[in-house]
Amino acid sequence: MDAVRLHTHGGTEVLDVETVDRPSPDSDEVLVEVAAAGVNPVDTYFRDGSYAPVAVPFTPGVDFAGTVAAVGGGVDRLAVGDRVFGTGIGNGSHQGAYAEYATAPARQVVTVPEPVGMDEAGAAGVAAGTAWRALFGHAGLGPAEYCLVHGGSGGVGHAAVQLGDAVSARVVTTAAPGYHDALASLGAETVLDYGREDLEKAVLEASDGGVDVALDHRLDDYLQFDAAVAAEGCRVVGIGENDPSPGFEAVGTARSKDVRYQFMSLFNAPDLREVLSGVAHLMASDELSVELARRYDLAEAGEAQRAVMEDSFLGKLVVEP
Ligand SMILES: NC(=O)c1ccc[n+]([C@@H]2O[C@H](COP(=O)([O-])OP(=O)(O)OC[C@H]3O[C@@H](n4cnc5c(N)ncnc54)[C@H](OP(=O)(O)O)[C@@H]3O)[C@@H](O)[C@H]2O)c1
Repeated sequence: MDAVRLHTHGGTEVLDVETVDRPSPDSDEVLVEVAAAGVNPVDTYFRDGSYAPVAVPFTPGVDFAGTVAAVGGGVDRLAVGDRVFGTGIGNGSHQGAYAEYATAPARQVVTVPEPVGMDEAGAAGVAAGTAWRALFGHAGLGPAEYCLVHGGSGGVGHAAVQLGDAVSARVVTTAAPGYHDALASLGAETVLDYGREDLEKAVLEASDGGVDVALDHRLDDYLQFDAAVAAEGCRVVGIGENDPSPGFEAVGTARSKDVRYQFMSLFNAPDLREVLSGVAHLMASDELSVELARRYDLAEAGEAQRAVMEDSFLGKLVVEP
């Protein structure tokens, strides 16, 4: 089979398509013929070695959707021919999904509901799973609460906007001006340009004085900001940062409003299948649409990884082997 592989950590130029043996599933795994693999920032961290280095040769690709081609002896819930999606491979413990076939632990795999496309499902895992775990698992977002989603046009952001709307929360999001109409149609009540100088005032105005929940993917930019726009008892969930040491200077503000901060990784979820099943349900019931901005073949995986870190787009990029 064809698979994208790297033999040394580095830039996108280390990714090449190679012919390798098709893997076999272990007892608790399924073999998936990959139809689509979402492209995530985390794929680039495993490529460049900025996360713990992975053993090489290595195939990236955390997210996947496809058809079950074989099942391990200990798997009774899934069968050959099932349409499935999942996440959490391509991370050192498993080879990833930028390949014609990939193996995945069955506990990280759920079925794709019939009306949902494989391409959309293949891009859903990390983005929508993270939004689900952050907003529902950690923040306990409920109806009529104000929910601030920083960067609503991104992979996680555009899913979070829709998840917030799905539970009738009042979503305030930020994005570059070109995405405002699209985000309003995905369910945001208010869309603000993240570049405006009076952003804090605008968020406070849009949320009747403060947000109940904030989803923050750039903690180095917004850690203090989140405290400033928090309503009393606000739950801030942090998922990412560019500078790993953002510092926290808003202790007094946060304390005065009983603000709770939670930092998280999707892959700490005690039950990924529960998260993925929830995402699948929202996709099947048209509450969640994973927007696909661009598609790439295996030979273009390097360009896809460059684009996910450098380009501006709405939603997700996907590799289709
Ligand atoms: N902890 C976890 O489990 C977890 C899971 C998933 C992702 N993450 C992390 O979360 C981050 C986002 O991931 P993603 O997949 O959503 O990435 P993405 O698709 O590249 O989205 C990033 C978004 O940030 C926006 N942005 C750029 N500058 C901004 C600013 N100053 N203020 C607000 N938004 C800004 C971008 O908008 P423009 O297009 O306008 O530049 C883009 O929409 C990454 O750091 C990723 O590693 C963590």
